[in-house]
Amino acid sequence: MESTNNSIDKFQIAVLASGNGSNLQALIDAQQKGTASYQISVVISDKSGAKALERAKQAGIPAFEILPKDFISKQEYEQQVLKYLNQYDVQLVVLAGYMRIVGPTLLGSYEGRMINLHPSLLPAFQGIHAPKQAIDAGVKISGCTIHFVDEGLDTGPIIAQRPVFVDFSDDEHTLQAKIQKLEHPLIVEVVELIAQGRVKRDGRRVQILM
Ligand code: GRF
Repeated sequence: MESTNNSIDKFQIAVLASGNGSNLQALIDAQQKGTASYQISVVISDKSGAKALERAKQAGIPAFEILPKDFISKQEYEQQVLKYLNQYDVQLVVLAGYMRIVGPTLLGSYEGRMINLHPSLLPAFQGIHAPKQAIDAGVKISGCTIHFVDEGLDTGPIIAQRPVFVDFSDDEHTLQAKIQKLEHPLIVEVVELIAQGRVKRDGRRVQILM
């Protein structure tokens, strides 16, 4: 496939999203201000009709549905995703509400260049329904985490976290909403830092260079 990249001076990112795409929107809004070091070159969803795709199209960003059910195996599905990532010269993959465990096919090509956003202070409350897990556990502080993706579920090296207080009146929905308010600026900040080459991994520890 030929490259369709048309702005080679910017750091090219892909966003993979399964649903609403409010974090994608935060990245789009920051990009549209014109000062970002990154460019969203492609958006891919594993869910038909995901709102994230609509947001991308609205912003003039190439957006594709790649549905796992159309492939005979996870490996073939991920190979198709990889084709698009290669076609768009993607340097960083951002999983923003991508509700699927990344397999060895994708990870093999993007380990160290793939990040995920998770609505808890990892390593607490890995997996799905993290805000509900936090409420059920009765914690007083939760938050969000951005981490590199590894073969585990929400286990990769942590890049950045932001805390939020959990009030007695909170339920999983109000806590999720509080967390999302923190996620939006944080995902923009972290992608910008990576685009500027200021995020350095040293085993499990991640350093932000000044
Ligand atoms: C976020 O809360 C993120 O932490 C989790 O999925 C949610 C996606 O939200 N992984 P959105 O689709 O970006 O609105």
